[in-house]
Amino acid sequence: MGISYCIFVVAFLYTGAMAYANLSPNFYASSCPDLLSTVQDVVCDAVSKETRAAASLLRLHFHDCFVQGCDASVLLDDTSTFTGEKTARPNAGSLRRFDIIDEIKKQVECICPGVVSCADILALAARDSVVALGGPTWTVPLGRRDSKTASLRLANSDIAPGSFNLGQLISNFAKQGLNLKDLVVLSGAHTIGLARCVTFRGRIYNDTNINPSFARALQRKCPRVGNNNTLQQLDLVTPDIFDNSYYKNLQCLKGLLHSDQALLNGGSADSLSKTYAADTKTFFADFAQSMIKMGNIKVLTGSQGEVRTNCRKVN
Ligand code: HEM
Ligand SMILES: *[C@@H]1O[C@H](CO)[C@@H](O)[C@H](O)[C@H]1NC(C)=O
Ligand SMILES: *[C@@H]1O[C@H](CO)[C@@H](O)[C@H](O)[C@H]1NC(C)=O
Repeated sequence: MGISYCIFVVAFLYTGAMAYANLSPNFYASSCPDLLSTVQDVVCDAVSKETRAAASLLRLHFHDCFVQGCDASVLLDDTSTFTGEKTARPNAGSLRRFDIIDEIKKQVECICPGVVSCADILALAARDSVVALGGPTWTVPLGRRDSKTASLRLANSDIAPGSFNLGQLISNFAKQGLNLKDLVVLSGAHTIGLARCVTFRGRIYNDTNINPSFARALQRKCPRVGNNNTLQQLDLVTPDIFDNSYYKNLQCLKGLLHSDQALLNGGSADSLSKTYAADTKTFFADFAQSMIKMGNIKVLTGSQGEVRTNCRKVN
């Protein structure tokens, strides 16, 4: 009787604390003091071998957070009895460098087994990737837990395609609790990384708000039919540097995706895009702030979910 009462009380207090449960930068300070340097070392090493790895890791965190929250659902592999998010339309043949997350997880499991969630590793790797290419840094709130499920359906419905117009982008972000400023500043992530012809073919053949010689050059690379997977830099000027040239490109009508140019096309996003084109400091500060906000989307904490030992499958 006494024992079960005790368990009841402990469980109650735990739940009580849960109501206040929140992410904290110090979450692993005593349980895994070398976490941050371990993640950073693997990211730096990977980015020094392939610059694009930084872009791919940043995008992994985004695609994780927009589908049932930042819970590492994006990392779960399909099995014969389980369908994850990797084959969803926005992800298939496009999301990459899961191997780097595996390597980070392997090293982190060595120093503090069973302690650090895959969702937190994604958030840290995204930050370290931005820093590695010269972007802003920020303190990453930690303490996310990993999901035991994933959602192909939500991955197909909640991640915007590059063909979206401004109104569609605004509602897509609003669904996640993110506003116009978050949309404009987080899209600045397209200052690094690559896109396939299949994602911007409509823009280079049908859009009128595009620089004509830019469009012609892209049409040579991406014919109307074929070359679906041919790659093009999202920022044609400094593709390997995290800077504000993404917004300067928009001012020259050289946004690669339809959704990029929608942020500077005579609508409500224009003034923010112009601010970021003119002012790197404001872009960096706002980007950091919105990354923290995105990293908070529907996080699992406390006793919710689990800490996976292998990021690709539930325990
Ligand atoms: C605003 C809505 C967004 C749309 C419509 C969008 C769309 C896309 C598309 C179509 C691609 C190319 C995929 C391919 O061809 O395989 C891409 C790449 C990328 N996106 Fe976005 N994106 C959006 C927001 C974001 C956000 C919020 C981030 C991160 C904070 C992000 C980071 C990236 C990065 C870094 C790449 C390049 C990845 C690589 O090279 O591996 N995007 N995005
Ligand atoms: C361009 O627009 C036409 C007419 O709406 C459409 O049939 C075609 O599929 C579009 N092309 C691309 C590449 O999206
Ligand atoms: C290329 O992409 C288009 C549009 O999504 C699709 O209809 C076509 O089947 C793709 N071609 C190949 C060879 O996969």
